[in-house]
Amino acid sequence: MIGRWFGSVSQRVPSLLYRVSLMMNPQVVFVLGGPGAGKGTQCCKIVEVREMERERTMETTILTLMSYNYTHLSAGDLLREERAREGSEFGQLIANYIKEGKIVPVNITINLLKKAMLETMEKDEKKFRFLIDGFPRNEDNLQGWNTVMDGKADVKFVLFFDCGNEVCINRCLERGKSSGRSDDNRESLEKRIQTYLQSTRPIIELYEKLGKVRTIDASRSVDEVFADVKAVLDKEG
Ligand code: ADP
Ligand code: C5P
Ligand code: MG
Repeated sequence: MIGRWFGSVSQRVPSLLYRVSLMMNPQVVFVLGGPGAGKGTQCCKIVEVREMERERTMETTILTLMSYNYTHLSAGDLLREERAREGSEFGQLIANYIKEGKIVPVNITINLLKKAMLETMEKDEKKFRFLIDGFPRNEDNLQGWNTVMDGKADVKFVLFFDCGNEVCINRCLERGKSSGRSDDNRESLEKRIQTYLQSTRPIIELYEKLGKVRTIDASRSVDEVFADVKAVLDKEG
């Protein structure tokens, strides 16, 4: 429970949503796919989308602002922030792992994710739905999640952006022209693809066996991909 997780959340009179949220664990969607599959791009679109829903009654039309109300947490972004943080004891280790396309030991990543989730919910108790992008990427990540988050968050499903390796590499090389990322180059990308195939695909297959994977063909245009993402979210909530 969020309440149990936090201690005291808020003293003010709770809204209905707040009262419901107190009884619920944070809701998590894991977002997986190869490097450059479009995970970050689609997560940003999910967070941005705001739609007016029209509900007609006998006399009038009620307009309600709708949004999916997800907070996007990218494990890669959190690791890059930690790498850049002055005084970080893990900066150099993270830099080495990222350049080599290897997966950073989970004790580092899980603490960053947990801290980001807690900070988000502390700032706004209605924000308890998370898109966790680029995690869990290997067995170590998954074990770390199960150890630290067991009973503290519910994984609803895995959003899997399925995209061929060549398309992924080309998108990252294109991104590399302006990203400044140490791993958007051909040498790192070959390693990242290997890590993806050897370590991440088995995790996706594991969730597949549990019936928890929602696969999206990510090789198409951003808008086409997003139309499918919306269809999944509209169905799954
Ligand atoms: P990921 O987070 O999966 O590594 P990004 O969302 O950062 O991928 O996308 C990688 C690059 O590809 C970015 O430069 C992005 O603008 C571009 N991109 C994302 N989705 C598409 C798409 N559907 N078609 C073409 N380019 C895309
Ligand atoms: O997801 P993103 O492309 O931003 O990840 C970049 C790199 O960050 C990965 O190739 C990997 O080195 C590191 N990473 C990690 N563990 C994660 C996510 C990212 O080690 N769960
Ligand atoms: Mg990304």
